[in-house]
Amino acid sequence: MSEQARKTAEALEYLTGFGNEHSSEAVPGALPIGRNSPQRAPLGLYAEQLSGSAFTEPRTHNRRSWLYRIRPSAAHPPFTRIDNGALRSAPFTESAADPNRLRWNPLPDPAPGTDFLSGLWTLGGNGDAAQRAGMAIHLYAANADMTDRVFSDSDGELLIVPERGGLLLRTELGLLAARPGDMALIPRGVRFRVELLDADARGYICENYGQPFELPNLGPIGANGLAAARDFQAPVAAYEDTERPTEVINKFCGNLWSATYDHSPLDVVAWHGSHVPYVYDMRRFNVLGSISYDHPDPSIFTVLTSPSDTPGLAGVDFVVFAPRWLVGEDTFRPPYFHRNVMSEYMGLIEGAYDAKAEGFVPGGGSLHNMMSAHGPDHETFERASAAELKPQKIDDGLAFMFETRWPITATAQAAGADHLQRGYDDVWQGLQRHFRA
Ligand SMILES: [Fe+2]
Repeated sequence: MSEQARKTAEALEYLTGFGNEHSSEAVPGALPIGRNSPQRAPLGLYAEQLSGSAFTEPRTHNRRSWLYRIRPSAAHPPFTRIDNGALRSAPFTESAADPNRLRWNPLPDPAPGTDFLSGLWTLGGNGDAAQRAGMAIHLYAANADMTDRVFSDSDGELLIVPERGGLLLRTELGLLAARPGDMALIPRGVRFRVELLDADARGYICENYGQPFELPNLGPIGANGLAAARDFQAPVAAYEDTERPTEVINKFCGNLWSATYDHSPLDVVAWHGSHVPYVYDMRRFNVLGSISYDHPDPSIFTVLTSPSDTPGLAGVDFVVFAPRWLVGEDTFRPPYFHRNVMSEYMGLIEGAYDAKAEGFVPGGGSLHNMMSAHGPDHETFERASAAELKPQKIDDGLAFMFETRWPITATAQAAGADHLQRGYDDVWQGLQRHFRA
């Protein structure tokens, strides 16, 4: 951890809003006015467009930014393959997709000197990275800063959920700080470097190969509610003007490729556009729920959704279970027993989750694949069935879910991990029959 990184994080300023046409310049006059690509860009900068969607996609889905940089990205040496470490990509074929309920403890602590990139460990996913469809679930565990190297993911955007330790994300478009309770998003292709704000860092990543995440429609909820657009924070322009070797690692169609530039590619002095990184404090989520009876479907807790070509069917949803009141009358208040065509990976940032009395711990995760039967464990069922139904505040934890349209296939390292909990099924043992004809 660097004291400098911590001070930098404390002093950050942000732009606010979701999907905006943001603009920012680190040096006055660096941003062209009235056009994107003047004959000579201001201050001797190079103009470059970064497209996160096809040029012709509808405005609601269109993402692109114009970058004004010291050197164009095109000026780089050839990339060569490097080892993928514990990073894996779709299609996931190392093991058979498993209909069993699976649950993992946190990753073991990494070796000293492990940075964010080398600390990535893939749990599983679905789809096909080269087809820009599906998603992957990665965990990270790090205890060192990335120094003189940056990462970019051509395969998808990275939704990062810190569970332990803060991150300082130095991106092409500027700096973000993400601490436990926040989520951060790095768009497809945006280069970034991660420094640690604490001694170590651990968390979850959804790599979304599909359509960029967007705010869900609210329908009858109205114009407000769930995650507010104004609570999403984008960076202001900040650039590095360093002339020393910097390794640029590009994840491309499932593999890592490396090239060593003679300068930092985080050299964007000004930018404008909508293809931007952002951070969101999940404690600001406006939790809505029933004020009469029944537990609503968990889609009510959707923060962001990656739409598919089928209306209402997400490639992946990011869902948060934030502190909330339960007031339902004559209601089994924890999440109900269910079998779901969608596949659910859940993680825990802090505290406990109201459907599991034990075994689901911060940094761990559970996978309930397509149509697998799950719900409250035995202890939770017995307690909730007998509870006095007075208003109750659930405020002892923060959990989240990546819910995806296709089954999740675990990697070999996840399917055979020492930290895979054997005997997870036992939490549903002891659910006695109570039927009386
Ligand atoms: Fe579920």
